[in-house]
Amino acid sequence: MSKAKDSKAVDSILIRRLYYFFEPYKWWAVLAIGLTLSAAFLGTVRPKLTQIAVDDYISIGDIDGLFWIITLLGLALAGEFIILVANTYITRWFGQGALFGLRNAVFAKIQSLHVQFFDKNPIGRLITRTTSDIEALSELLSDGIVNMIGDLFRIFFILYFMLMMSWELTIIAILVLPILFYSTFWFKGKVRVAFLNVRDQIARLNSFVQEHINGIAIVQLFNREQKQKDHFESINEEHKDAHIQTIFYFSIFWPVVEVLASLAMALVVWYGGARALMDQVTFGVLLAFIQYVRQFFNPIRGLSEKYNTLQSALASSERIFDVLDTENEVIENPNPVKLEEVTGSIEFQNVWFRYNKEDELILKDVSFKAEPGQILAIVGATGAGKTTIINLLLRYYDIEKGKILLDGVDIKDLSLTDLRTRFGLVLQDNALFSGSILNNITLGNNNITREQVIKASKEVECHKFIKKLPGGYDYVLNERGASLSMGQRQLICFVRAMVYDPKILILDEATSSVDSETEELVAKACNQMMEGRTSIVIAHRLSTIQDADRILVMHKGEIRENGPHKQLIRKPDGIYKKLYELQYKDQANIPGKSVAKL
Ligand SMILES: Nc1ncnc2c1ncn2[C@@H]1O[C@H](COP(=O)(O)OP(=O)(O)OP(=O)(O)O)[C@@H](O)[C@H]1O
Ligand SMILES: [Mg+2]
Repeated sequence: MSKAKDSKAVDSILIRRLYYFFEPYKWWAVLAIGLTLSAAFLGTVRPKLTQIAVDDYISIGDIDGLFWIITLLGLALAGEFIILVANTYITRWFGQGALFGLRNAVFAKIQSLHVQFFDKNPIGRLITRTTSDIEALSELLSDGIVNMIGDLFRIFFILYFMLMMSWELTIIAILVLPILFYSTFWFKGKVRVAFLNVRDQIARLNSFVQEHINGIAIVQLFNREQKQKDHFESINEEHKDAHIQTIFYFSIFWPVVEVLASLAMALVVWYGGARALMDQVTFGVLLAFIQYVRQFFNPIRGLSEKYNTLQSALASSERIFDVLDTENEVIENPNPVKLEEVTGSIEFQNVWFRYNKEDELILKDVSFKAEPGQILAIVGATGAGKTTIINLLLRYYDIEKGKILLDGVDIKDLSLTDLRTRFGLVLQDNALFSGSILNNITLGNNNITREQVIKASKEVECHKFIKKLPGGYDYVLNERGASLSMGQRQLICFVRAMVYDPKILILDEATSSVDSETEELVAKACNQMMEGRTSIVIAHRLSTIQDADRILVMHKGEIRENGPHKQLIRKPDGIYKKLYELQYKDQANIPGKSVAKL
């Protein structure tokens, strides 16, 4: 019982929150309800008019009166038709408007969330939230509620007209209602659960498809198609079963309503017919009652169906609001410090961090400093925590203990935009989007001109390569830039990092996917880029970082060594020294591989 109460409370909160998106259209909704009310009246007044026609005019042979009443009947029918057309259009129109606002809000929210949210939520699920979950609301927000109100009006009018004519027949007509209420109640409960299940299955299906199309090359390489197909089939099967479950309940419910309606009709004909024969009711009344009974069950059936729409919509909106309510774990300072000019000094003070509370520490007491204009290199084995340092510096995640300073200001005191615009970032797997190269570089920022893009790309030696592509800067990339090689994608990302003229440059394994010829070009470009900027370079190949002002050697989340190449190389038993000697053996065999000054 208390659970039912709770869910009612939740429902009413959900409806109130949905109303927020509906608010701009509220006067249209009022109009729609007015129109529905009129349509309900015009629809239900017709049997009454028939009764008057039969009893007051046909029975006494009044042709003029009959003509008059038939005209009224025709007008009522035409009026109802026009109103229903207008109303359908209006309600769908504002419904789509409300959905438009909601979809925008969901996307904007998802976009603003902390990176960790995406570690935990599969992309497919988020796609479901922004598409089909919102679609499920469409009926509710458009004609769902208005029609429900219309149905209530219809029931009310029908009862009113019936009672006006004969209370006795009215009671006979509604004798079956308790059975109808009971079966509706049963049906509602079953279908609610079934609908929740359907939505779950849709999200699962989407996640699966999304993930496996993303990794299609791997799936095909390892000949996993059959296996994945089987897996997909089993998810699809559950999805189908969930749907069939709802169909099953509907297929029981509809005939039940149909049978009850016929039963009510039979009762009215039997009882009313007998009364009419005894002259206790007129034939007009009997005729009207037969029509009313037929009309009566439609809105009742409509209400229970719409109740399901409502249920499925509420199930969806609950999930949508879950996303909208997700607290951003990276909280912006409401009164941020505004940095005018940044010199680019970076400092980590005793930073401790882990990705999840239950996990091990990923960074342990990490402290270092990079002065403006310096090159800071970070080396260390895979998983040592190098990329993590970058993630923290850009506040993709927040640290547990310690402090990170940019120009002496705690980065938590800066607005995220202010912080992040200071950095140019090139990663190993860079995100490209479908669209032209130019757009991929400016990311839609209209303040950046084509000339600026070309200038930046000349600086990083990418101009020649881009020029060679068909259409040059207007060459249109496929989704994720799949039509370019890894190295080419990397080069475009160099331009993207540079075009904003950032004060601090971060290269995380940035040169690892280009060939040695390009690497030389890129190395030159990098030198150019690092001029006058603080730079953080993460590299596995030590040859690329020998000229860094400072090298941090990370090991299992700790900084074990910290100093320039010349100093680290002399340290007996040093990790860096060992790493260098290991790699030096390789490099000694490939003269010229050692990259230009970096
Ligand atoms: N999003 C994440 N959620 C949970 N743990 C993570 C996440 N990203 C990284 N880790 C863990 O943090 C540790 C450090 O990862 P990090 O990416 O910083 O390594 P790295 O030094 O950059 O390695 P590589 O040289 O391979 O790029 C790893 O043990 C990894 O498992
Ligand atoms: Mg890394």
